[in-house]
Amino acid sequence: MSVKFAVLGHGVVGSGVVELFYKNKKSIEQHAGTEMDIKYILDLRDFPDSPYQDKFTKDFNDILNDDEVTAVAECMGGVEPAFSFVKACLEKGKSVSTSNKELVAEKGDILLAAAKAHNCNFFFEASVGGAIPIIRPLHRCLAANDIDKVAGILNGTTNFILTKMYNDNMSFADALALAQKLGYAEKDPTADVEGHDACRKICIISSLVFGRHVYPKDVFTKGISEVDLADVAAADILGHAIKLIASVRRLDDGRILPVVMPMLVPHENIIAGVNDVFNAVLVYGDGIDQTMFYGRGAGKLPTASAVLADVIEAVKHKVTVFSQSWEPSSDNSFVAPVDALTTKWYFRVPADSNIDVEGAYTDENGTSFITQDKLTFGAAKAKAEELKALACIPVLD
Ligand code: HSE
Repeated sequence: MSVKFAVLGHGVVGSGVVELFYKNKKSIEQHAGTEMDIKYILDLRDFPDSPYQDKFTKDFNDILNDDEVTAVAECMGGVEPAFSFVKACLEKGKSVSTSNKELVAEKGDILLAAAKAHNCNFFFEASVGGAIPIIRPLHRCLAANDIDKVAGILNGTTNFILTKMYNDNMSFADALALAQKLGYAEKDPTADVEGHDACRKICIISSLVFGRHVYPKDVFTKGISEVDLADVAAADILGHAIKLIASVRRLDDGRILPVVMPMLVPHENIIAGVNDVFNAVLVYGDGIDQTMFYGRGAGKLPTASAVLADVIEAVKHKVTVFSQSWEPSSDNSFVAPVDALTTKWYFRVPADSNIDVEGAYTDENGTSFITQDKLTFGAAKAKAEELKALACIPVLD
């Protein structure tokens, strides 16, 4: 018997799912232990040149009401109508695999509960880190650890832009246009550039690791639009790379602190050398010390690879995978405000500030230095105001 699945959305990721499935159909079937085929592709647009004309539908009910379809790959993006479609599929016992981080970050608790109630699965490996296996390793391979910190580069577009700015002296706008052309950026690049995409991903990781839903609205998020080439160059001379870092850690009082911010990463930290569209995630646990996951964090086939792996998992698992779950959170009191961020800080101040700090570097753009002591977020902002700082960026510790 052949297992039938449907693909919702035929954009970059959805079309990649179809392409990769038919390219590797034989080995995918071997991994799944059964014959498989795509029965429907849902999209409101027409694709007259597609060789899969017989599979396209514009009506979601064709998929929902077809009992032969037991698994669904959701690659539409956005919260609605994806949420309604995914919830309806789960309530019919159809497992869903998604690449949609906004959906998981906003509605993951509800969809996980729906999957549990209907004895199927809601999988989302593709929603964080593109091709990188990170969701399943967190709740399976690393399940014996007490994980207290996760930090990394979770947005390929901004890492690509920062790399092009630094290596090729490319302007921010040109690098962004190239990222869009290559299919890395979200439809609205604001989500990448201003850190919202990375925020959604650290929310998903935080929810999975710490067991309660962490909502994007509770996470301090700052993107790369204010990162100046002068700071990229000065940070390099001071022994650091500037990266958009998404991190979460458990504090001594038991609360967690997720943040998304450009940060200075010491050159000796392996994350500093992660360039282009690549993502990297460092996981810290009491058994493993630290483990890094690295790979292509965006793009058509890398993301399709993770979606299809989840479809295979869905076909293989006839019951709900309980380890991949978290509870709803009715309040956000377990998420600490950003002032709990305590670290060393990079400052760039006007060159005539007469700053006397060991290791400071001065050029025509100002004087740059890293504080000897750790400061809270609030103390760093106050110091920046006092010094009339041109830049104030935390250092990843
Ligand atoms: N726009 C995202 C990125 C795609 O650049 O990382 C993958 O989530």
